[in-house]
Amino acid sequence: MKILVVGNGGREHAMAWRLAGSPGVEVLITRGNGGTDDVARAIDVAPTDVAGVATAARTHAVDLVAVGPEVPLAAGLADRLIADGIRVFGPVQAAARLEASKAFAHEVMAAAGVPCARSWSFDDATAALRHLESCPLPVVVKADGLAAGKGVVVATRRDEALAAARAFMVEDHLGAAGRTVVVEEFLAGQEASFMVMTDGEHVVPLAGARDHKRIFDGDRGPNTGGMGAYSPTPLLDDATRDAVLASVIRPTLDALARRGIPFRGVLYAGLMFTADGPRVLEFNCRFGDPETQPVLYRLRGDLAEAMVACAEGRLDRVPLAFDPRPAVCVVLAAGGYPESPRTGDAIMGLEAAARLPETRVFHAGTRRQADGTVVTSGGRVLGVTATGADFAQARARAYEAARCIRFEGMQFRSDIGASVG
Ligand SMILES: Nc1ncnc2c1ncn2[C@@H]1O[C@H](COP(=O)(O)OP(=O)(O)O)[C@@H](O)[C@H]1O
Ligand SMILES: [Mg+2]
Repeated sequence: MKILVVGNGGREHAMAWRLAGSPGVEVLITRGNGGTDDVARAIDVAPTDVAGVATAARTHAVDLVAVGPEVPLAAGLADRLIADGIRVFGPVQAAARLEASKAFAHEVMAAAGVPCARSWSFDDATAALRHLESCPLPVVVKADGLAAGKGVVVATRRDEALAAARAFMVEDHLGAAGRTVVVEEFLAGQEASFMVMTDGEHVVPLAGARDHKRIFDGDRGPNTGGMGAYSPTPLLDDATRDAVLASVIRPTLDALARRGIPFRGVLYAGLMFTADGPRVLEFNCRFGDPETQPVLYRLRGDLAEAMVACAEGRLDRVPLAFDPRPAVCVVLAAGGYPESPRTGDAIMGLEAAARLPETRVFHAGTRRQADGTVVTSGGRVLGVTATGADFAQARARAYEAARCIRFEGMQFRSDIGASVG
């Protein structure tokens, strides 16, 4: 079986690696990165090029297209592939709106009775500013559309809240993505990421995870694409997972189904565990990055078969399980990240890191040059992932591997997974 992975970051390297481990599977990947050659054959088509991916899928006679990032899904890649008779793991455009429009997500959650923050949607700047002049603080101002992590401001002061709404709605900092704004009440608590695989009807929960978006230890500093993640999280024990399936996942899928929208792929709920129980912060329509690295590292079972079953609407017959041992993924980021990451720096020590037990270095922003050297090519460079008997051992292994690796300006957090023991 041939599977084309769309995307070329750390999440997609983990997907390709896990898929390549399924018996009889050959993996192709859109462009790939400096680490994907070991597990996948790169083809020269951009992950966001909907028509190009569809053409490549036909040319290479792939049996399944597994989509990593949200942008092509929101642009209708799955619809296009389905129309061409090609199996796809990832939702159609109408379902991807759960992520691509935060206002739509709130509409669906309201109809489904899913617990979330109170929210107000505005497409008129004057009305949004009037609301923000007098609402309680802190308050959360969110651009409606896809913003690659730059569309949410948690404002503790009124001037910050007003400035965020102006930046999105008046100054057009995010273009069309910010012309509608969703204002949410601030929820205090601890966060967790809960992903499920679903064919719209059947649901297979994946192991819970936690990611760390802030650049510095102790969750300080500016937001990034993600500086690390671990799985599982004590917040999502079996009973809580079942409760979230019943209160969030099931009703959301049912509300979409009532609108005639099937959701096939990964449904990701970003949750805040408040004093009143779990509340949805957002939905994503695909695997999280970097949560996918530790989650797929722990996955036992046949991911390729599960994805095909999902695409065909028969996910009920696929057993997936997780290694009970925890996994930790530490992101090694480029100097200058997140504002202006340096690129083109040679990466040393990858071989030494690869020799360590129960450890895997997933590549993200890397590129292999003609002479074989691997150089940095993006903000998040590598995701060093390790497992162990407990969190302490998984963490020790991940950080040992991280210390093997060197490149100019390399930065990483030293506290990924530290709060869980
Ligand atoms: N209502 C809220 N209350 C408190 N914090 C929030 C709220 N909504 C979002 N956040 C914080 O902002 C982060 C980003 O928000 P999210 O909706 O997940 O947007 P993004 O699309 O950028 O991932 C969350 O991980 C959380 O830390
Ligand atoms: Mg988020």
